[in-house]
Amino acid sequence: MWEDLEVTLEKLADDKSKEKPSQDKLGFGQHFTDHMFLMKWNRENGWHDAKICPYGDFTLDPAAVVFHYGQAIFEGMKAYKGDGGQVYLFRPEDNFERMNSSAIRMCMPRIPVDQVLKSLKALLYLEKNWIPESEGASLYIRPTMIGTEPFLGVRPSAEYYFYIILSPVGAYYSEGFNPTKIYVSDEHVRAVKGGVGNVKTAGNYAASLYTSELAKKEGYTQVLWLDACEHKYIEEVGTSNIFFMIGDELVTPPLEGSILGGITRNSVLKLAESWGVKTVEREIAIDEVLAATEDGSLKEAFGTGTAAVISPVGELFYKDKAYSINNGETGELSRRLFDELQDIQGGRREDPFNWVVRVG
Ligand code: COI
Repeated sequence: MWEDLEVTLEKLADDKSKEKPSQDKLGFGQHFTDHMFLMKWNRENGWHDAKICPYGDFTLDPAAVVFHYGQAIFEGMKAYKGDGGQVYLFRPEDNFERMNSSAIRMCMPRIPVDQVLKSLKALLYLEKNWIPESEGASLYIRPTMIGTEPFLGVRPSAEYYFYIILSPVGAYYSEGFNPTKIYVSDEHVRAVKGGVGNVKTAGNYAASLYTSELAKKEGYTQVLWLDACEHKYIEEVGTSNIFFMIGDELVTPPLEGSILGGITRNSVLKLAESWGVKTVEREIAIDEVLAATEDGSLKEAFGTGTAAVISPVGELFYKDKAYSINNGETGELSRRLFDELQDIQGGRREDPFNWVVRVG
């Protein structure tokens, strides 16, 4: 059935095209392009009615499962325009494979990766004029799946929408590439092993909002989550994974079920190793990091994610005390990772790991 997926094109009339936002005021996730990809699933037909169509509203039954029980998963990826207008994707199969892992855990249907990637490339080709060319900007891609069956019993939906929308974006944080200040929560937790912390499901983000708002009120950009059992070990920053350069080791928490297996996280590990940096995936206690800020062995810290790319951390706030990292400045390794990743993604630098996929 997957092999037969036919994708139709409903093109918006040229004079209906939206005005494009100014490239220096993009922000994150505020503007959307003219077209999207949409397909539907039911038991009888599998994935069907696949189309590239004008960006627009859905009409869903108020009883749709997604509204009540949150059966929703998503991905975040980016398209870049390189020199000469060539469009590139970064490790898109990995995102779609991760989406299929999320789908299995959330009792949702898997997507046909090859066909969806082909459709995404066609959508990007159609929308290539929306891909910003200014430094640090890109076209953010948001593949999403939701349970649409109108049914109030608690069981997996029998119907789904999968869609991809596109948004021209600049930096995720208003700080840009300047270091962020992070609030370490010792009260609330994000996820527990055996739960869905390693799944890119909407509820994880909804559950983080309350603590994020508390952190913002105190002047902090994001929350650093600790493990749910002991409130001792570092997990992730919710929108990104986290790395610490302690002594001569680049350390990050291991993937043991409660944090997301970031594609940028994996790319950073591979890049750093290729430069001869010693990388270690291991449990890191918050006390170890704070002690390392005080004895000077913590050289730098940064978050990694598709939206955030590399996001240096300049301060941690824990139990009423602020701990400065690298005097609140961007570290050397963060800068090098940011520059090299962006150059690989934009096709300006050799791609030794074959991460980049050309569109068109
Ligand atoms: C991403 O980095 O793409 C994410 O999905 C994080 C966030 C914006 C929800």
